[in-house]
Amino acid sequence: MAMRGGHPGADGMDRDGTGANGPLRETATTKSLLSGAEGPVVQFENVGMRYGLGPEVLSDVSFRIQPHSFQFLTGPSGAGKTTLLRLILLSVRPTRGLVSVFGNEVSGISSASLTGLRRRMGVVFQDFRLLDHLTTYENVALPLRVQGRAETSYRAEVVELLRWVGLGERMHVLPPLLSGGEKQRAAIARALIARPDLLLADEPTGNVDPSLGRRLLRLFLELNKLGTSVIIATHDFGIMDSVDARRMVIGDGRLRIEG
Ligand SMILES: Nc1ncnc2c1ncn2[C@@H]1O[C@H](COP(=O)(O)OP(=O)(O)OP(=O)(O)O)[C@@H](O)[C@H]1O
Ligand SMILES: [Mg+2]
Repeated sequence: MAMRGGHPGADGMDRDGTGANGPLRETATTKSLLSGAEGPVVQFENVGMRYGLGPEVLSDVSFRIQPHSFQFLTGPSGAGKTTLLRLILLSVRPTRGLVSVFGNEVSGISSASLTGLRRRMGVVFQDFRLLDHLTTYENVALPLRVQGRAETSYRAEVVELLRWVGLGERMHVLPPLLSGGEKQRAAIARALIARPDLLLADEPTGNVDPSLGRRLLRLFLELNKLGTSVIIATHDFGIMDSVDARRMVIGDGRLRIEG
C-alpha cells in the first residue's frame, strides 16, 4: 500500500468522543477486497480531452491507479484536476486515448454498465451536490438506501459517521441551511459511507479549518486501510505534506507522477 507515514490522530482532536479509532470498520467485503490478484482500478493510455472546440485541457495522459493505493492529484487552478476526475467518473468521455475503469474499457460501454461501475465509486464533488430536499442524514444514508438496505441495518453507522465529522447536531437539517464547511463534511460522509472500491475527492478540505482538514484526512486514510483506492485532488500542501503518498501533478495539460 502506498500509504506510509501518515499521522492519524496527531492533532489530538476527538470532538465527539469516539476514541482514537475512526468510525469505519472492516467488513467481509473489504476483507475479500484485500486478497486475490487484481488489475489496476483505473488505467489511462494517451488520453486527450477538450471541451467542445476549445484547446486540449489534458494531453497524452497515461497512468494507473492500483488497488488499495492512496494518491494526491494536484496542479494549479484550471490545470484539469476536476476534468481528470470526471473522466474517471465517466461523466465526460476522452477526446482520444483509452480509459479503463475496474478493468472495463469505457468507450462504447452500455449505460447500464456505466451505472454499475459508478456505484463502485464514492465521489466528493468540488461543489458538494447534496440533494436539498433530503436532510443531511438522508443525504449521507442515500448510497446505502440505493443498495436496498433496510434503514434499521445502517442507521447507527450513519449517525456515528455524522458525529465523527462533527455533524451530530446538524443531521436533521436540510443542506441549504448548512455552512460551506458543513456541506463539505456531509458530502465526504456520503462518499465514504458505502465503503466504495474507489474514492474520488475534489478539494475535500477546501472549506474547513486546518485541524478539521486533518481530521477528514484521517477518514480517507482509514478508508484506504480498509481497501479503497483513494484519489484526493488538492492544492493544500499542509495536507499533502502530512502523508507520504504518490502525487499526480498536472501542468500545461500534462501529467507527471512524483513519489
Ligand atoms: N464544462 C466545461 N466547458 C468548457 N471548458 C471547461 C469546462 N470545465 C472546465 N473547463 C476548462 O477546462 C480547464 C480545466 O478545468 P478543471 O475544472 O478541470 O480545472 P481544475 O484543475 O479542477 O481547477 P480548480 O483547481 O480551479 O478546481 C479550465 O481551463 C476550464 O476553464
Ligand atoms: Mg477543480
